[in-house]
Amino acid sequence: MNQPAGAHVLLVDDDADLLRLLSMRLSAAGYRVSSAESAEAALAQLAVARPQLVISDVQLPGADGLALFERIREKHPALPVILLTAHGTIPDAVEATSRGVYTYLTKPFDGKHLLEQVAQALALAPPSEAGPAAPAAWRAHIVSHSARMEELLAEALLVARSDATVMIRGESGSGKELLAKAIHQASRRAARPFVAVNCSAIPEALLESELFGHVKGAFTGALSNHRGLFQAADGGTLLLDEIGDMPSALQVKLLRVLQERSVRPVGASQPVAIDVRILSATHRNLEAALADGSFREDLFYRLNVVSLTLPTLAERREDIPLLAQHFLSTLASKHGRRVRGFAPDAMRLLATAAWPGNVRQLHNVVEQVCALATAPIVPLSLVQRALRVPDVQVLSYAEARRRFEHEYLVGLLKLSDGNVADAARLAERNRTEFYRLLQKHGLTPGRFRGDGDGAEEPVAE
Ligand SMILES: Nc1ncnc2c1ncn2[C@@H]1O[C@H](COP(=O)(O)OP(=O)(O)OP(=O)(O)O)[C@@H](O)[C@H]1O
Ligand SMILES: [Mg+2]
Repeated sequence: MNQPAGAHVLLVDDDADLLRLLSMRLSAAGYRVSSAESAEAALAQLAVARPQLVISDVQLPGADGLALFERIREKHPALPVILLTAHGTIPDAVEATSRGVYTYLTKPFDGKHLLEQVAQALALAPPSEAGPAAPAAWRAHIVSHSARMEELLAEALLVARSDATVMIRGESGSGKELLAKAIHQASRRAARPFVAVNCSAIPEALLESELFGHVKGAFTGALSNHRGLFQAADGGTLLLDEIGDMPSALQVKLLRVLQERSVRPVGASQPVAIDVRILSATHRNLEAALADGSFREDLFYRLNVVSLTLPTLAERREDIPLLAQHFLSTLASKHGRRVRGFAPDAMRLLATAAWPGNVRQLHNVVEQVCALATAPIVPLSLVQRALRVPDVQVLSYAEARRRFEHEYLVGLLKLSDGNVADAARLAERNRTEFYRLLQKHGLTPGRFRGDGDGAEEPVAE
């Protein structure tokens, strides 16, 4: 969980004695404390400094603590707020927790309990939104602040600057592809293409020509030259994803490419020199595949010059609140939904769940709750429900259909080598109608002809 020491806490109370007392306790525990005597003064401070926690009295002159909370919520949905209540106002405070207030403490309060609550609230809160500085561009898409990830990213940056072949390992959904892209971004090849090929998604019979290309007439259906992904990535980076699923016949050929730094398109008599940085990724236990002979040892050593392993989400739970809030904000604005944050108990459940599907599963769960939430704060019950449902990606019917159509059309165009008449015939549609479909999906048949540069098409998401 977050290291609370040194965190900035804003105290809001019109009782100067209480402010002083609280301030002393929190400072003694290592927090940085600032104070405000009214809701207005607190909001003014929030406009210039970003504390990680606000502790406010419920009763304040003018706008009360609850009104203050609502206004904080609007601008800083992830900033936890603890309310201080006198006896008469407890029911209000209890009600407030269902609206997203972290917790309430009844005056007079016990110092030890106060510190415990403060530490817990800070542990569940994403770090202050302003942060020390915006992350460097190469890692801007990787949301994390755990020590484990920072170590890994520091290593990745060092490796990126060399041209070394890197094998990225980690459980499914842990962010391997994201890390591969970041390595490319941090490398001298950043301005050149990044091409990812999923070795398990391409049928064995097609993989060789997908990777290395083919010449016209190399096999039935090879109607024109095709460049292949190695050449498409020339000057840049090629990610061989799910490398553990590469068929053995191709493992030998890949090894030769890595040794000779050239590819021989299927049916070609001459090899073509290539300048490509190779990254590979797998969620498999390759040591077991080496032991049973399904993965070649010589290829393994070529690919595994440097190995980086993504931690599982369970090994970096302190990143969960940050990731969950990030996904929620992104998804809410993408879908125009007014969902702003998680109720504290909902966040607690997210932070302690098992996450066998890692970050991808967390993203899917947040996507589900964002789609189903009817109030700005996601309640515990929704998270419970989403965690029980098997992992499904929430797509609207229209979007699911669009994606299916797109993939279907790409498949047909590849099969027909960019020949629209052939593709339309396969689809049992007339040409005009088929053209209209291609237009709708922004697909250019020419890019699927062997000599076009449609090589990146198969990996587009
Ligand atoms: N640190 C992170 N910050 C933000 N998003 C992340 C992070 N890690 C992963 N994701 C997101 O989670 C999803 C899964 O990540 P990615 O595809 O890189 O994982 P993977 O390890 O390649 O998974 P698989 O083994 O299933 O192919 C993606 O949508 C990615 O954007
Ligand atoms: Mg992947």
